[in-house]
Amino acid sequence: MGKFNRKVHWENIYSTKKINEVSWYQIEPKTSISFINLAGLEKDAAIIDIGGGDSFFVDYLVKEGYTNITILDISEMAIKRAKLRLGDSASKVSWIVSDVNNFSPKHKYDFWHDRATFHFLTDSLEVNQYKETVENAMNKNGHFVIGTFSKTGPLKCSGIDITQYSKQEIIELFHTFKIISDLNVKHLTPFETTQDFVFCYFVK
Ligand SMILES: C[S@@+](CC[C@H](N)C(=O)[O-])C[C@H]1O[C@@H](n2cnc3c(N)ncnc32)[C@H](O)[C@@H]1O
Repeated sequence: MGKFNRKVHWENIYSTKKINEVSWYQIEPKTSISFINLAGLEKDAAIIDIGGGDSFFVDYLVKEGYTNITILDISEMAIKRAKLRLGDSASKVSWIVSDVNNFSPKHKYDFWHDRATFHFLTDSLEVNQYKETVENAMNKNGHFVIGTFSKTGPLKCSGIDITQYSKQEIIELFHTFKIISDLNVKHLTPFETTQDFVFCYFVK
């Protein structure tokens, strides 16, 4: 078997599965929406969704009138699908096809959101690289929301290993940020199963 190639894996997922044929699908990203509402951002705040895939979070952001939205994903196909769905509104969003760990932000962000992307980094060097990126990418008082599988959640997603986190582990890992709140979430998949997530919301 060849070496695992993350990009090939995700391009394959988004080329073969429909939007509601993946476990992370949600018609309304309620938890993410609740955190961005809590943040109380200006409409021109710089927002980035890491591993946004073709999630409906961007639709919400556009609908609410945010004007500085960036979606980053390793999969070109995921971005293509999200753009297609948004139609003309896609031009209001900046799209970046990149591995988050090769991402060198050109400016700073006020809101960094990651639902179910960070937990795929199972190598400690990659985890540290991510930490460094988010620490450097945030404006002062910037908001950072991260959601991962919790200790009672799945061990794999889309067939590949993830790292489960407890709330305490996430808080310790991102100790340079100030924790504001956390939430345990039971995500109902399209297959009528549940997945336990933990979300942490920090401010820089
Ligand atoms: C489980 S899906 C979650 C998608 C979306 N955040 C949501 O909540 O619906 C994980 C997403 O992260 C992307 N991804 C995985 N590893 C990545 C990496 N290292 N850098 C950037 N994106 C990545 C995948 O292509 C996929 O879209």
